Amino acid sequence: MAGHGNPFDAQEPIKGVKHVILVGSGKGGVGKSTVTVNLALALAQTGAQVGLLDADIYGPSLPRMLGCLGQKPMLSEDHLLLPLERMGLRLMSIGFLVDEGAALIWRGPMLFKALDQFFREVYWGDLDYLVVDLPPGTGDVQLSIAQKVPVSGAIVVTTPQNVALSDVKRAVDMFTKVKVPILGLIENMSYFQPQGQSERYQLFPKGELDQYLKETAIEKLAELPFNTQISMAGEVGIPYVESHRDAKEAKIFAEIAKRIRTTDLNAEGDPNS
Ligand SMILES: Nc1ncnc2c1ncn2[C@@H]1O[C@H](COP(=O)(O)OP(=O)(O)O)[C@@H](O)[C@H]1O
Ligand SMILES: [Mg+2]
Repeated sequence: MAGHGNPFDAQEPIKGVKHVILVGSGKGGVGKSTVTVNLALALAQTGAQVGLLDADIYGPSLPRMLGCLGQKPMLSEDHLLLPLERMGLRLMSIGFLVDEGAALIWRGPMLFKALDQFFREVYWGDLDYLVVDLPPGTGDVQLSIAQKVPVSGAIVVTTPQNVALSDVKRAVDMFTKVKVPILGLIENMSYFQPQGQSERYQLFPKGELDQYLKETAIEKLAELPFNTQISMAGEVGIPYVESHRDAKEAKIFAEIAKRIRTTDLNAEGDPNS
């Protein structure tokens, strides 16, 4: 009922999907997609059934990061889109449907239609987690997803410096407003430690992020270092946690995955209840 009542009344679970987890950031370029891909794979490596939805309509990057650029999903007999399968993940991206680089200036109805398709017209099958790479910012896509499906939790990705902090606050406020529980924050490119050295270099100045997290009782799930191999892995299309399973950074993702698996998420969007 447009314009009436509670917009969240329109929420409808995705068939077969236990938990929807959103990965968001206030700011672009902080490594959200990189973190999403590696985290989804780390979850799959624990034995969970994981789907990955690239909902970044303004800059889909999962096709490249997962080595399936230019591929197209097939249709099932009953006209559902079949996700591509890579490294045990079921993938869907707006990038499979339109050319990378095509300027997407979707607004309003078209945008909602596309999102609806991703939730209702994709054959996800049975999934423990559907991890969603959101576009940066706090706009229509985030709001629309929260209204369409019950979300178990959100993870916020940022870099350490204060210029990113105001965007973190906006993202946190948005998730709170749409009643999506925040599972925690990942501080990406937290530091750089050259191989074989004990010294850590601060690529970005440390801002007041820790203070803010303390005040808001939001947990920092991890500090992920800058590592050129992580970036290279994204270019090559084989994510770092797949190619470097024993590396320190892969273990960081494994830890976060373990945390998510042991958190008592419920599909109505309320952890610990
Ligand atoms: N921890 C990291 N170490 C090195 N490079 C990284 C790291 N995280 C992200 N990057 C690189 O930073 C760039 C932006 O990351 P991306 O995941 O596309 O950000 P976003 O999705 O937030 O726009 C990419 O080139 C990516 O490879
Ligand atoms: Mg991205």
